[in-house]
Amino acid sequence: MRVVLAYSGGLDTSAILALLREQGHEVITVTVSVGQEEELRGVEEKAYKLGAYKHYTIDAVEEFANNYISMAIKANGLYEDRYPLGTALARPLIAEKVAEIAKREGADAVAHGCTAKGNDQVRFDTVLRYHLGDDFKIIAPVRELKLTREKAVEILRRNGFEPPGLHKTYSIDENLWSRSIEGGPIDDPLAEPPEDAFAWTVAPEKAPNQPLYLEIGFEKGVPVSVNGERMSLAKIVSMLNKLVGAHGYGRIDHIENRVVGLKSREVYEAPAALTLIEAHRDLEKAVYTPRELRFKRLLDQEWSDLVYQGLWIEPLRLVIEKAVDELNRWVSGVVKMKVYKGSLQVVGRWSPYSSYSREVIDYNKGWYPSDEEARGFITIWSLHSLAAAKARGLRG
Ligand code: ARG
Repeated sequence: MRVVLAYSGGLDTSAILALLREQGHEVITVTVSVGQEEELRGVEEKAYKLGAYKHYTIDAVEEFANNYISMAIKANGLYEDRYPLGTALARPLIAEKVAEIAKREGADAVAHGCTAKGNDQVRFDTVLRYHLGDDFKIIAPVRELKLTREKAVEILRRNGFEPPGLHKTYSIDENLWSRSIEGGPIDDPLAEPPEDAFAWTVAPEKAPNQPLYLEIGFEKGVPVSVNGERMSLAKIVSMLNKLVGAHGYGRIDHIENRVVGLKSREVYEAPAALTLIEAHRDLEKAVYTPRELRFKRLLDQEWSDLVYQGLWIEPLRLVIEKAVDELNRWVSGVVKMKVYKGSLQVVGRWSPYSSYSREVIDYNKGWYPSDEEARGFITIWSLHSLAAAKARGLRG
């Protein structure tokens, strides 16, 4: 068969490549760059060494930023209030690229390295089925053969290849939006994650003594500048990951409810994601009506759940995104932030569409309702609650 393999260059997908070759398949490897800098080095060479018939490296960093991350900011995408969805967002994009190549190459099957315990298999398979049809063959050797680390190592060795990343304690998945660290000592939910788990952030106590000030410019809900300098979203994100990470902000540690019915202890680094979502949420508060704000939070949560749970293909996602875009039409302006030794605070904001008025709010010279207006409002406003309390015998 001609098989298109979603290839990261890591231990598992390298073993899968060798295994499929041993079974006599013609393997075409596809590596999609979504900002995972470290892993990409030498991946093409490795693919050919392991017997790939053809290899594609697809640079999708700008696309990831402009079409996926931008929506994650507009929708304040955080799963269970904590996880900025880096892996969850990248999987549909990777799957779409793999499907495209599978079609172009007339492949008989696609293969990926997801396990049976994770969310990623759900995210890959749904999008692959969406593009390639329900009956298209999806090979997932880790899931089908329970390919363990030891077995993967053995396969690579018998193919004359010294396994990559054997020394690694953790299972890492990184892209422009977040870095996820799983396994090893982190599986003990009571133990503090060891320092060697982190690569994007310094420990807060080692951060510089001077605070970092940032001014993020937004247009229609999307960041367009940092400290007055306009740049692409991809550039803003990679720059903030470095700047903010160096000040010790951006670590996440929580217990996460996976789609596949189990809880896991998840550790992430996402300095830019947390900074930009915090800034965006703040600007939304300045702009939206109270009703818009409350309703927007429901949209945000539903969107985050769909993305996390591998339902990228759910039609409702597009409906939510339309509403999210419509509300974000007014989310323009700037947000000032202060990052200091692992903490981040919004310290100022401005928007041309903010209905905040200093004139109105000023106690000395601002607008005041008359005594009569204020009393009338309070009477009518509290009528339901007071009447209900009376009916229940709770008041005089
Ligand atoms: N728990 C996160 C998620 O489901 C991270 C998954 C990381 N994936 C991986 N193959 N290491 O999105």
